[in-house]
Amino acid sequence: MLGLACSGVSPRLFLLALATHNLRRLLQTFEALADLGPALTGETDFQANALAMLRASIDAVGAREGVLFTFSEKPALLRSAAVHGLAVLPDPALIPLLPKHVYALSHAPGATTVPPEGGWQNFLSTNGNVAPQLFHCLAPLRVRNRLVGVLALGRAAESVHYTPEALEVLELLAHYIALAVHNWLLTHSLERRVSENLRLLASLNTFCDRALEAFAVAIDVKHVQIHGHSVRVGHYAAGIGEALGLEASEVAALRSAGYLHDIGKVAVDKRLFAKPERLDDDEFREMADHTLVGHRIVAGIDFPWPQLPEVVRWHHERADGSGYPDQLRLDELPVQSRIVAVADTFDAMISDRPWRPALDLGQALSEIVKIAPQKYDVAAVQALLIQVRRHAVDPNRSRFLDERVFCNIGPSDVDNLASELNYRLTQGRTQVDVTTP
Ligand SMILES: [Fe+2]
Repeated sequence: MLGLACSGVSPRLFLLALATHNLRRLLQTFEALADLGPALTGETDFQANALAMLRASIDAVGAREGVLFTFSEKPALLRSAAVHGLAVLPDPALIPLLPKHVYALSHAPGATTVPPEGGWQNFLSTNGNVAPQLFHCLAPLRVRNRLVGVLALGRAAESVHYTPEALEVLELLAHYIALAVHNWLLTHSLERRVSENLRLLASLNTFCDRALEAFAVAIDVKHVQIHGHSVRVGHYAAGIGEALGLEASEVAALRSAGYLHDIGKVAVDKRLFAKPERLDDDEFREMADHTLVGHRIVAGIDFPWPQLPEVVRWHHERADGSGYPDQLRLDELPVQSRIVAVADTFDAMISDRPWRPALDLGQALSEIVKIAPQKYDVAAVQALLIQVRRHAVDPNRSRFLDERVFCNIGPSDVDNLASELNYRLTQGRTQVDVTTP
């Protein structure tokens, strides 16, 4: 007995049990507390925990049936988390609460009996889908004086009324159950908020992506022969990024960078886009300055992708330092700029220009492979070949190439190009396999 007294049960409850010789009930309380262990430590899911806690309470106080309700404030509502012994109850059982009910449950001295003939009206409304008259005993679940739920028990099994000892036991258990319910409500609320925020973020990202896509269309509106170029560069750059194994956020950043890479062209005389002859020096400089103009435009905007201004400025830089505007070499360029440079060149080659017709896919890839080590990041070109090969194997699944591009090469042709690229890069010392899906 002394052991029981020293085991965490309140001295008052212990003395009460001694006084009434209700040792069996006290032992049941211990048993119930032991049963609550896994529930309180969250070792199983909450629905199972709620049922275990309810059953333990019902057994400990000698009830026939009961419901464990959780409480939400907005709107004030009790919602069943577990039901035992009431087979016909709706799932979930719901009881809306008025402010006076919330106040009464929050300030009740402890577990209390509510005779069917009256008393429940102080705590429960009749507006829900369950009759409050079913409940003869209520134990508010509170944490730091805030209501988190209600343990509502039906008829007592052994007598018409619940004894004071049963109410003491119930109050003790309610204290622990309230903590478990409170923890679950916090976790549940956090999960819901995270989920809502992620949904919001996803919708914002989609909106942002669509807005930038529309902007990309506007950039290319100056001449019919570059229509869709920026959108396609965004698409190809994202595909190359995927093949390089970049994170989804980095791929999204590449798509946006591709959309905006030529934004500086809004300041270029549209006559230059249609000129069939070679541009003279002044005209070339004006055209080349679209990198600097574009950089000035986007540098002042706080984009969520820090490399975007660099891509706009450096997408015409080349690996050997022969590009513009800063004549940077490959190792000075961020990977995003290298990727967009390949995507930009690829789309330009397979598109008509005023001074030349489009190359077919095989010709364009051969040309890129031929100049790759000097002009482009070989890893980005290899990734381009991987995506083209996937498209050649299954166009419907891949959808990498724009629908206006005729895929005139097969997987083995792409493999040959990959071998040639590898040879050019290593001068035959090693092999790189781009056939890996
Ligand atoms: Fe450009």
